[in-house]
Amino acid sequence: MQQIIVINLSLFSCIAHALLLWITLAIFGLYVAALASRVDFYKLFNDPQGRLSLTPRLKTDDRIRAHGYPAEMHYVPTEDGYILGLFRIPYSHKLQNQNALRPIVLIQHGLTGCSDNWIAMGPDNAIAFQLADAGYDVWLGNARGTTYSRNHTSRSTQHPYFWRFSWHEVGHYDIAAMIDYALATNGQNQRAIHYIGHSQGTTVFFVLMSTRPEYNAKIKTAHMLAPVAFMDNLSSLLVRTVGPYLGHHNTYSKLFCSQEFLPFNDLVLALFYNSCRPESRFASLCDGVLYDSSTEGRTNSTASAIHAGTSPAGLSTDQFLHYLQEQQSGHFRNFDFGPKKNLLMYGNEAPPDYPTKLITCETHLWYADNDELAAIVDVERLAETLPNKVMHHMEDELWDHIDFAFNWHVKEFINDPVVEIIEEYE
Ligand SMILES: *[C@@H]1O[C@H](CO)[C@@H](O)[C@H](O)[C@H]1NC(C)=O
Ligand SMILES: *[C@@H]1O[C@H](CO)[C@@H](O)[C@H](O)[C@H]1NC(C)=O
Ligand SMILES: *[C@@H]1O[C@H](CO)[C@@H](O)[C@H](O)[C@H]1NC(C)=O
Repeated sequence: MQQIIVINLSLFSCIAHALLLWITLAIFGLYVAALASRVDFYKLFNDPQGRLSLTPRLKTDDRIRAHGYPAEMHYVPTEDGYILGLFRIPYSHKLQNQNALRPIVLIQHGLTGCSDNWIAMGPDNAIAFQLADAGYDVWLGNARGTTYSRNHTSRSTQHPYFWRFSWHEVGHYDIAAMIDYALATNGQNQRAIHYIGHSQGTTVFFVLMSTRPEYNAKIKTAHMLAPVAFMDNLSSLLVRTVGPYLGHHNTYSKLFCSQEFLPFNDLVLALFYNSCRPESRFASLCDGVLYDSSTEGRTNSTASAIHAGTSPAGLSTDQFLHYLQEQQSGHFRNFDFGPKKNLLMYGNEAPPDYPTKLITCETHLWYADNDELAAIVDVERLAETLPNKVMHHMEDELWDHIDFAFNWHVKEFINDPVVEIIEEYE
């Protein structure tokens, strides 16, 4: 006789299983429909060129030229085969300084962003133009997988292995390649650069400088805007909500891993535009991560419009998972593949921590009270491990994660002081 089966599934796992079932059914349905109609839905959805609008798509270099500055695009190969699209403002048309010594500055965007972030504020307020006008050779990076860096020496973006990377690889390979390429291309025998990064642009810097400490010698000054390394005290509702489910090695994270996430195309753009509008009930989930609804009126709306029109710029789900792992574990450490693969990859069942004490270059931390993704206590915990840091705490209590890139007063509170520190060094 069959005994009573005790069902001790928690409510969550019931819901999650139901959700998974529905997703599986939906995917199966799409697959059948695709077979029947011979339409490649994946390609339709995934094609970043598949724009419906009639206006031509502007690239970063077009936007730079529109303001009268010279602009270049460069294809930069990484050691592991990715080809990154970098933009450069080699000199200022106002200074006509193409033959003068121009120290290099590399500026790196955050998660879901791209090089367009750094010029969106226009020639009077955007840090890229400010630095060009101060006589610098300005480079704008783009991480693998973003709009301008969907390229590889042997793999297509349709190849599943293309998306097997997190921000570890962006730091360890991409930023290293960008620095070396800029130094070689500048052609003025420079040995080191200035680095400015926002959000993920700081995480990848910490990864590179701690895993390949020889790169510290290639940094004159580094500016970490909204630094993200330790994450256990962050307040972001989105991260705190999904962290417990996806921030661990389990069935859900395995289903979700190593895929393209939020590519830049009209479908995703419309989806995010609609769900992140201030009046949307999902708006609070977008805070800090994509757009900003809480601080309406604090950002330059022209710049925000450019940002909204170019984001999300594409990433791998592993970047997102890796951040959720940090939030759950309280460590700043390598990607967690689960005990078995960790043992193979790292020789240890737990992933190794990043040795941040090896970051010996001059590192400026710019941080704020209202930052949803970089809590003060987490930044301070990181700072304790850095041997050569300078702390810059924002006075404005409302200053948040996105403000570091798009606040009305970003020139006054961030750009001007950063440029001044760089100038003092030179
Ligand atoms: C806002 O951004 C636009 C360019 O996108 C710029 O022309 C304008 O000067 C900016 N306004 C302020 C007050 O920063
Ligand atoms: C990929 O990189 C090569 C240079 O290595 C370049 O010629 C090509 O145009 C790039 N393709 C895309 C789609 O960016
Ligand atoms: C930060 O998070 C940790 C772990 O969740 C917790 O123990 C600690 O009390 C938090 N600190 C603050 C200041 O909130």
